[in-house]
Amino acid sequence: MITRLAGLARPMLLLMEPERAHETTLRALESGLFSAPAEPDDPRLAVDIWGHRLPNPIGIAAGFDKNGRVPDVLVRIGFGFAEIGTVTPLPQVGNPKPRVFRLIRDRALINRLGFNNAGHIRVKARLAMRERNGVMGVNVGANKDSADRTADYVQGIETFYDDADYFMVNISSPNTKNLRELQGEDELNRLLARISERRSALSDQHGRRVPVAVKVAPDLEEAALPVVADVIVQHGMDAVIATNTTLSRDGVQGLKHAEEAGGLSGAPLKPMADKVLAAFRSNLPGKIALIGVGGITCGQDAVDKLDLGADLVQFYTGMVYRGPELVNECLRAIAKRKSA
Ligand SMILES: Cc1cc2nc3c(=O)[nH]c(=O)nc-3n(C[C@H](O)[C@H](O)[C@H](O)COP(=O)(O)O)c2cc1C
Repeated sequence: MITRLAGLARPMLLLMEPERAHETTLRALESGLFSAPAEPDDPRLAVDIWGHRLPNPIGIAAGFDKNGRVPDVLVRIGFGFAEIGTVTPLPQVGNPKPRVFRLIRDRALINRLGFNNAGHIRVKARLAMRERNGVMGVNVGANKDSADRTADYVQGIETFYDDADYFMVNISSPNTKNLRELQGEDELNRLLARISERRSALSDQHGRRVPVAVKVAPDLEEAALPVVADVIVQHGMDAVIATNTTLSRDGVQGLKHAEEAGGLSGAPLKPMADKVLAAFRSNLPGKIALIGVGGITCGQDAVDKLDLGADLVQFYTGMVYRGPELVNECLRAIAKRKSA
C-alpha cells in the first residue's frame, strides 16, 4: 500500500522543482500518510552490528533527512536504518537556488546545496521528540565559515552523543570550500585524533561507546586510499562510508544540467564508488565496517556492493527516481543472493 501510494505520486514529484519535490516528500512522510508498518523483513536479512540488530542492511543516505524530521518513519517504511544530517553547529541556508538538478536520462542528480541545515540546537530539539524505533546515525559536519572545523565535528559528537546510534564524520562533501582537504594525511590525523580523544571521554562519561565512521569521496586518488585507511585504523574509527558524490562527470550521457557545478550522484557514480569501496575493503581489517553508497538504482546494485565487501549499503538518488519500492527490490535481490 505504502509503495503503491508512493508509486502513484512519483511521476508528479518528478515534474516538480527538485527541492520542492523533496520538501513535499518529507511532509508526506511527516504526515503519517506513509507510516503503516512495512511487511516484516525476512529474518535472514537481519544484520547484527554495534550491538544493534538491523532488520535489513539498507539505509537511507545522508542528505535526505538533513534535519532529523523522519528517521523513525523511514525505518517504518522499510529501511534497515536511517542517517540524518549533515548537521553543522550553526544553522546554514546553503548556496543560492537553484542548486539541485535532475539528470533524468542518467538516473542521476547534481547538487550544490552546501550543507543547508537547521543547526545543532534545532535538530537536537527535534530528536528529543522521536519515538526511537530504529537505528539512526547522525552525520556531522563543519560550518562554512568556521574558524576551527575540527571543533565543529567534535561539537557535533558531543551534542548528539545521547541521540546517535553511530556518527558519520563527513569530510567529503564537494560543496563546502576546502572541506575535502581534511582527507589529506596530516589534516585527517589531527581531526581523527581529536575526535577519538573526545569520544573516549564521552564513552566513559556516558557508559556507552558510540561508533564513529568516516565518509570519503569517490575522487580520492588511488595512492591516497591506503593512507586514508591507515589513519582511520590508527585512530580506532569503526567504519568507512564509501562514497559521497563526485566532481567527475564520467559516464554522464545526457547533456541537460551535466555542466552544473556540484556533486554528482546516482547511476554514473556507481563504478567509481564501487572501486573505492573495494579498495577500502582490501585495505581495512574486517572489524572495521564498510557502508557502500553511490549509484544504487536497482536491487542488483545493492548486491554488488555487498559482494564487494560492504556490511551495509545506503542510497539517496535511487529514492528520488524509484521511491521506497527500491528498498523492497534490494531486499528481494539480497534474499535471492542468500538462498543461491
Ligand atoms: C541532494 C543531496 C544532498 C546530499 N546531502 C548530503 C549531506 O548533507 N551529507 C552527506 O554526507 N552526504 C550527502 N549527500 C550524499 C549522499 O549521502 C550519497 O553519499 C551520494 O548521493 C551517493 O549516493 P546515491 O548515488 O545513492 O545518491 C547528498 C546527496 C544528494 C543527492
